[in-house]
Amino acid sequence: MTPGSYQSNEEFACEMDARDPLAHFRDRFHIPKIPNGQECIYLCGHSLGLQPKTVAAYVQQELRDWAELGVEGHFRGKHPWFTYHRLLTGQTAQLVGADSSEVVVMNSLTVNLHLMMTSFYRPTATRHKILMERGAFPSDQYALKSQIRFHGFEPASSLVELRPRTGEPCMREEDIDLLIDREGHSIAAILLGGVNYVTGQAFDIAGITAAGHEKGCIVGFDLAHAAGNIPLRLHDWGPDFAVWCSYKYLNGGPGCVGGCFVHQRHAHAWSLPRFAGWWGHDEKTRFKMGPDFHPMEGAEGWQLSNPPVLALAPLRASMDIFSEAGLDALRAKSVSLTGYLEFLLRKTLSSECSIITPAEETHRGAQLSIRLSRRGREICDRLAAVGVISDWREPDILRVAPVPLYNSYADVFQFAQRFSAALP
Ligand SMILES: Cc1ncc(COP(=O)(O)O)c(C=O)c1O
Repeated sequence: MTPGSYQSNEEFACEMDARDPLAHFRDRFHIPKIPNGQECIYLCGHSLGLQPKTVAAYVQQELRDWAELGVEGHFRGKHPWFTYHRLLTGQTAQLVGADSSEVVVMNSLTVNLHLMMTSFYRPTATRHKILMERGAFPSDQYALKSQIRFHGFEPASSLVELRPRTGEPCMREEDIDLLIDREGHSIAAILLGGVNYVTGQAFDIAGITAAGHEKGCIVGFDLAHAAGNIPLRLHDWGPDFAVWCSYKYLNGGPGCVGGCFVHQRHAHAWSLPRFAGWWGHDEKTRFKMGPDFHPMEGAEGWQLSNPPVLALAPLRASMDIFSEAGLDALRAKSVSLTGYLEFLLRKTLSSECSIITPAEETHRGAQLSIRLSRRGREICDRLAAVGVISDWREPDILRVAPVPLYNSYADVFQFAQRFSAALP
């Protein structure tokens, strides 16, 4: 669908919904209601995805096994807990374009980032810098600065920040390449978001990885806003590691367990330092309870603790829906739905209201970030009062994400109407 074929009337939105092969998936989710009992316009899947209706049954199954089997549930449950996390491995590998041995679902994003940096950030006197985006998600900034200090260096001299050109909201790819080319020899690790959480800009993971590797840097990505949002081919693109959370586009529920990718080339990297825990120990001898740690091959060797089954059950419910819908079909709808949102918003843009997310579909996912330079917070509150759930990032950004699994063209149409009415 090209911008030229969109129309700005409600009939068009209804027709698009009627023709949408994924439209029925909306009924698989609980859509929050506003006080008058109507469903809200939920455009906040980039922050917390909605709950699949099947979540309760998936959790109930494990509660039942726990009640009826106690500890025996580890081996005799319907889905034995001993290997429960592996029920997610195949779907997760497919989601991020990896081999099954390269992914594991564990911990939460920031914990996984620290585990990865512990193994892969090996600063020396001449190569101690970390390259990241200016204004990266605060947790990443705190984590990376603390890693730098942990190794006895100072962020002032060891942190290199990528920033857009003055007056531009997003990074230019050629500027990223130039910086890596210029400073790569002193950079130990590159850590960027797959999709920037403020602007919604999707980075060229393959290109950045290749440029970083050419200079001898380790390259990792924070895929919090990319997993379940944009197509990923991590194995082929080759970053050393990636981490993500599962409560945004993946609908795993608040604080759900995160994911981690470690490229196959490190599957047997026994000499890398790593923080160890018993669940990363070779499964064949784990219950011999020996004193020495022998890691499992691949990403699973970075696990620490036995998996939180009750937190993984909702993620399984959601990932089963992803598998049923198909990643290619979801991406096609996402591109079309986001394009439609942009088409409608373009009619209300002005010098005080602009879209900062890149216009090219390869450089963005479902999120559009709107810069509101006057009374933005008030506009966001006005939208909430008329049943639109979006979110606000200081100082001037309204973020909205039409998510292909449960948002409709009618949602997008309604949002555009209410947004335009909320402008001062
Ligand atoms: C881009 C990004 N990185 C890191 C995090 C932190 O995630 P967690 O609290 O799961 O460690 C978030 C949370 O929203 C995020 O959006």
